[in-house]
Amino acid sequence: MNHTIYPTTNFKAIEQLTVERGEGCYVWDNKGNRYIEGLAGLWCTALGYGNQEVIQAATEQMGKLSFSHMFGGKTHQVGMDLAEKLAEMIPMQDAMISFGNSGSDANDSHIKMLRYYHQAIGRPERRKIIARDRSYHGVTVASASLTGLPVTQNHFDLPVDALGILRTDHPHYYRGKQGGESEAEFVARIVGNLEAMIVREGPETIAAFIAEPITGASGVIVPPEGYYEKVQAVLNKYGIMFWADEVITGFGRTGNDFGCNTMGIKSPDMMTFAKQLSSAYMPISASAIRRDMYDAMVDQSAAAGAFGHGYTYSGHPVACAVALKVLEIYQRDDIFAKAAVTGEYMQKRLAEFKDHPLVGEVRGRGLLGAIELVANKATGQAFVGGAVGGFAQKAAQDNGLLLRAVAGSSLGFCPPLIITTAQIDEIIEKTAIALDVTLDHCVREKLLV
Ligand SMILES: Cc1ncc(COP(=O)(O)O)c(C=O)c1O
Repeated sequence: MNHTIYPTTNFKAIEQLTVERGEGCYVWDNKGNRYIEGLAGLWCTALGYGNQEVIQAATEQMGKLSFSHMFGGKTHQVGMDLAEKLAEMIPMQDAMISFGNSGSDANDSHIKMLRYYHQAIGRPERRKIIARDRSYHGVTVASASLTGLPVTQNHFDLPVDALGILRTDHPHYYRGKQGGESEAEFVARIVGNLEAMIVREGPETIAAFIAEPITGASGVIVPPEGYYEKVQAVLNKYGIMFWADEVITGFGRTGNDFGCNTMGIKSPDMMTFAKQLSSAYMPISASAIRRDMYDAMVDQSAAAGAFGHGYTYSGHPVACAVALKVLEIYQRDDIFAKAAVTGEYMQKRLAEFKDHPLVGEVRGRGLLGAIELVANKATGQAFVGGAVGGFAQKAAQDNGLLLRAVAGSSLGFCPPLIITTAQIDEIIEKTAIALDVTLDHCVREKLLV
């Protein structure tokens, strides 16, 4: 009997792969079949599977101190060391770090810190947050309210109105352009919409704008040139913070250390990390804020008796030890620079699919990419629903490649950062077969228009 309620799953159509073990960039199922990881688990297993140094770091920490919390009056060295290391690595000056267990709860922590901070500085009305259509920021009640994908909100009575989430355009030119609009005109229009909304709502009521520098779960949207520069100019004009959700783009994923650097985002006020922070060997997340935000909260916490937020496992020592080791390996082995090189190679090879009859757009940066499958290549008409993407994902899996269909009919690519060019070739060969199998299916089922 199976008593599991599966996450993000169609309960009626569960056809499962029982994954049993992993080594490097491969996993094996319970029947002994081998699969190459095209999506690093869920955009997270940067160092692949079976890294002995990471395993040893976890084992040693479990033996030394398997748990200690960080609530009022307690700390531990490994947690403080990780906060210091992160503050040193990330593109924020002198950041302060709050630990959590997932990207979702890290984003919740940010929402609460934004409110706490604005109350502390006597600006409680600055509480609304701007999030984009087709964004993914998690699935807790608050983070799902930020997320701009209907499946995470419909039937859950979300978003929560009291959170004051404002929605602005997604920056996907291929899907969002109107008529013969150029990229520059598209950017000008959507940033114009953003500014108009800010003015309409009252800038003094808006705390922050949240964005994944390049999105993941919503189809790997790479905004056009100049988008973030224009967005940041508008936000700066109205004193609204820029909050970078780097849960997928953090730590070498996009050809640079962080997605903000790849996309030219300057001095984010807050940043969210998870996934590759520990290469998914342990669940851990981090919410980074500006030092002056933290400083402003100190007196308020004293007056209240405590900053009343934190999880039992905030700064779990084993997760911190694992993350510290992972960050050490990233730096020692020059993983980000190597991933930038293999990332360029992957983008070049993915681009070869541009001419395939099913492919509408190929996009990405570094070791993060997507191929969008369309019902009509000439017009870009999308398939209805996600069935074709799901079919292609299964066709890849049947051929020994793990990918993920995202945003309906896009196939997401996000292999471990340690992938080699030969392994990228293997992914490309298997993708080519999956696309042809999917094309045959679409022709047979008359799904092309
Ligand atoms: C950009 C982004 N933010 C937040 C999350 C939520 O992270 P988690 O699934 O660890 O809660 C995700 C998950 O994919 C994500 O991609």
